[in-house]
Amino acid sequence: MQKLAIQGGVRLNGEVRISGAKNAALPIMCASLLSADDLHLSNLPDMHDVETMAQLLRQMGVQVTAVVQGATFNAARVDKLEAPYDMVKTMRAAILVLGPLLARFGEARVSLPGGCAIGSRPVDLHIRGLQAMGAEIHIEHGYIHATAKRLRGARICFDVVSVTGTENLMMAATLADGVTTLENAAREPEVVDLANCLIAMGANISGAGSDTISIRGVASLHGANHRVMPDRIESGTFLVAAAATGGCITLSETRADILDAVLDKLREAGARIVVADNHITLDMHRRPTAVNLRTAPYPAFPTDMQAQFMALNTIAEGSAMVVETIFENRFMHVQELRRLGAQIAIEGNTAIVKGCPLLEGATIMATDLRASACLVIAGLVAQGETIVDRIYHLDRGYEHIEAKLSALGAQIRRIK
Ligand code: UD1
Repeated sequence: MQKLAIQGGVRLNGEVRISGAKNAALPIMCASLLSADDLHLSNLPDMHDVETMAQLLRQMGVQVTAVVQGATFNAARVDKLEAPYDMVKTMRAAILVLGPLLARFGEARVSLPGGCAIGSRPVDLHIRGLQAMGAEIHIEHGYIHATAKRLRGARICFDVVSVTGTENLMMAATLADGVTTLENAAREPEVVDLANCLIAMGANISGAGSDTISIRGVASLHGANHRVMPDRIESGTFLVAAAATGGCITLSETRADILDAVLDKLREAGARIVVADNHITLDMHRRPTAVNLRTAPYPAFPTDMQAQFMALNTIAEGSAMVVETIFENRFMHVQELRRLGAQIAIEGNTAIVKGCPLLEGATIMATDLRASACLVIAGLVAQGETIVDRIYHLDRGYEHIEAKLSALGAQIRRIK
C-alpha cells in the first residue's frame, strides 16, 4: 500500500494549476450514455475515479478513446445495461448510470452502493424519483433492477438535498415524455456544469443552479463538446494548505465565484485573498484564527471542505466549533489528527477544536478522500516527519497532488 512521507514546516509558495472537477466529470461522463453520437470532453482530471468511470462505461460497450485530460465517448453500441457491485463499491458515483441507462434503453441494473466510511449514504431518493417517472423498480440480490418503456415527466420534490440524486433524475428527464420539475434540487455548480453539457447535447433544461429545475423531455440527444469546470474542492484544499503553512500561493484556471463560503472562512482566519479573472491568490502572514463552520448544501459551506478546515483549526489561535450536517460519520480524521497532538472533542455532529501552537509528526491513516487531504495538510504543518498511510483514497479524487505540492515547495514524497 502506498504512503506519503511529509517533512512539515515548509511554507507553500508559488502557482498551481487547478484541474477539472471530479464531481462534474463523473456525471458528465455518464451523460454520454444518453446519445449515440460522440461526446468530446476536455479538462478531464487524471485520477482514479475518472479511470474507474471510464472502465465502467467501456464494460457497458461505450467506446472511450483516451482518459487523460480529454476523451471522446461514444455510446452507439451499448450492450450491457449493468453497473456491477465491484465498481459501485469502489466509487458510489457509479449510481449515476442508472438514470441515463433507463431513459435511453428502458432498463438498468445497478448494484446498491452499501455503506461507506462517511455514513450510510442511501439512494432512496434516486429510486423514488425514477418511480415517480413511471419506472418499475425491484431490489434483487443487492441490485436495483429498473425498467420503463418510456419515462414520463413528473413533479418531484426532494426531502433532502441530494447532488447525485438531482443529477440522476435530471439526466433521466432529458429523454422522458413531457415535463419534469425537480424541487428542492441541489444548487451545486457541478449540477449546473452537467446541465450545460446536456443543453449542448440538445436537452431542454431551465433553472439549473436554483432549487427548481425544469426539464422538457426530447426524443433524442446528439453529440457535443464540453469543457469540464474547475475543481472547487481541489482549489479550496490548496488554499487551506497554504493558509495553514503561512504561505502565499496563486491558483490558476480556477473560479472564485463558486468558492464564496470557503473564501469568506479563509478571510475570517486571517488570509489576504485577491481574485482576478480565473486566478485566486492567498497570502497568510500570521498564525490563523480558529473559524467556526457549519456544513450545508451549496451555496453554504461544503462538507467536502470540512476536514481540511479542521486541520487548519488544529493549529489556529483560539477554539472553533465544526458542525457537520450532511453526513453522520464524517469525523474519521479526528482520531488521526489527535495522534499528531491536536486537541479535538466530539459531541454528536459537532467537533470542538482547541488550537495548539504546533503538531508533531507521526504515522497516520487516511480513511476517505477528503479526510486524506486533511491529514496531508496536517502533515505539512507538523514538526518532523508525518507518514500518511492508505493514500489510495487521495488518488481517487486529487490529480497528482504530491507533484503539485512539491512544486509549491512542500517536502513530500510517495513511498511505494
Ligand atoms: C455528492 C458529492 C460528494 C459530496 C456530497 C455532498 C459527487 C460525485 N459526490 O455526493 O463529494 O460530499 O454530494 O455535497 O458529486 N441522501 C439520502 N437519500 C438519497 C441520497 C442522499 O438520504 O437517496 C442523503 C445523504 O445520506 C446525505 C445527503 O442526502 O446525508 C446528501 O447526500 P448527496 O448530496 O446525495 O451526496 P452524493 O450525491 O452522494
